[in-house]
Amino acid sequence: MPDAERFPEGFLWGAATSAYQIEGSPLADGAGPSIWHRFAHTPGRTANGETGDIAVDHYHRWADDIQLMRDLGLSAYRFSISWSRVLPQGTGAVNHAGLAFYDRLVDTLLAAGIQPMVTLYHWDLPAALDDRGGWLNSDIDKWFADYVTVVTRVLDDRVNFWNTLNEPWVVSDGGYLHGPLAPGHRNLYEAPIASHNLLRAHGRAVEAYRATGKHRIGIVVNLEPKYPASDDPADVAATRRADAYMNRQYLDPVFLGRYPDELREIFGDAWREPSPRDMELIAQPIDFLGVNYYTRNVTRDDPTAYPVRARGVHQPQHIYTETGWEVYAPALTRVLLWVKERYGDLPLYITENGAAMYDPPTAIDGRVDDPLRTWYLREHLLAARDAIRLGVNLNGYFAWSLFDNYEWSLGFAKRFGIVHVDYATLERTPKASARYYSEIIRTHGDVLAAPLDALSI
Ligand code: BGC
Repeated sequence: MPDAERFPEGFLWGAATSAYQIEGSPLADGAGPSIWHRFAHTPGRTANGETGDIAVDHYHRWADDIQLMRDLGLSAYRFSISWSRVLPQGTGAVNHAGLAFYDRLVDTLLAAGIQPMVTLYHWDLPAALDDRGGWLNSDIDKWFADYVTVVTRVLDDRVNFWNTLNEPWVVSDGGYLHGPLAPGHRNLYEAPIASHNLLRAHGRAVEAYRATGKHRIGIVVNLEPKYPASDDPADVAATRRADAYMNRQYLDPVFLGRYPDELREIFGDAWREPSPRDMELIAQPIDFLGVNYYTRNVTRDDPTAYPVRARGVHQPQHIYTETGWEVYAPALTRVLLWVKERYGDLPLYITENGAAMYDPPTAIDGRVDDPLRTWYLREHLLAARDAIRLGVNLNGYFAWSLFDNYEWSLGFAKRFGIVHVDYATLERTPKASARYYSEIIRTHGDVLAAPLDALSI
């Protein structure tokens, strides 16, 4: 296979998870509650009232889970740290037992030859900080930077990759504007404040990390390319607004030091002009960007769709996942090229990519066959390789998710894992997609050339 067709040397083959979605035991060993603990225990907030109290019990099964990662051949693992395990009140006293959990995890991953990539915030804000206003309190940049310093002082000697935030758009849109996610607010005025404070916290954390850290720090965003449903100028304008809201709202400040103009139109009198000092803080240079890619959106103008006035159009000829997302791999290539063109040639990682497809609750004869997820994986890795061939500096891929897990307010019904979890027994079974991914890793991508029906997996 010619070199240009191959994944680069040192490409990270990973899988990703997050603390609240897999760990369970959220209050163990002195941890404080997070907003997700509180939200999931509030009646009516999550599907069937399901919580992350047990999740997949990774808090106790972590050693076996690392063995499983090793058996699959993973070279990297992206996980998040629960802020309130480390600082039960969000600030102040450190809970050493909480930090020790992650310390052991990192050591054991490294002993298994697996690079840890650590996300410092994956949506589980300490509840004590929410009581002080959470992401609406403009002091949160300092709270976050102090927490980041506590963690990185202990782990940076062994962790090469740090992500400040996971998907600030989801935190603001889901947590403060539409409310399906914790803390569950529904307030147009709060959304731009939360977004701005998330970005300030990111900037402050990068600044704090530079004082003591020796490795690489970046941010993870979810990007969803927007395609106009027609060439009608109203649809084209709606597509621009949707793109500004979801994709450029975070990347323009980080890389260009300004917000997209469309946000003023979207938020109207809820928009507040940021200070130049804040924009400088946000635009600190970072070492890499993590891109989470799941789907694209074909967009049309819809004056009733609040507040962006844009709506997605169903593509009847395409396959949709169990979360209602269109499977469309070419947009992954396109979005990676777009990042390079708009923001520069920095190292990129696909930090999440995957699909909820229907899988049985229990393995059958020790097997779980998931042909649609296997196909999704192949299509997206081929799209990633196309991006590399076209000159994108892509350095790794993390499947979402290593395990079936707690899909936030959708509970346990949506299975994203390449490893099946039987929720009655918590038994783990690698699905066919995991076996295929192992083979991809073992052949450094060469097996992608073979059509799936030619393989026995
Ligand atoms: C999040 C994950 C989530 C996944 C699937 C991403 O938005 O980072 O926590 O489980 O998508 O919805």
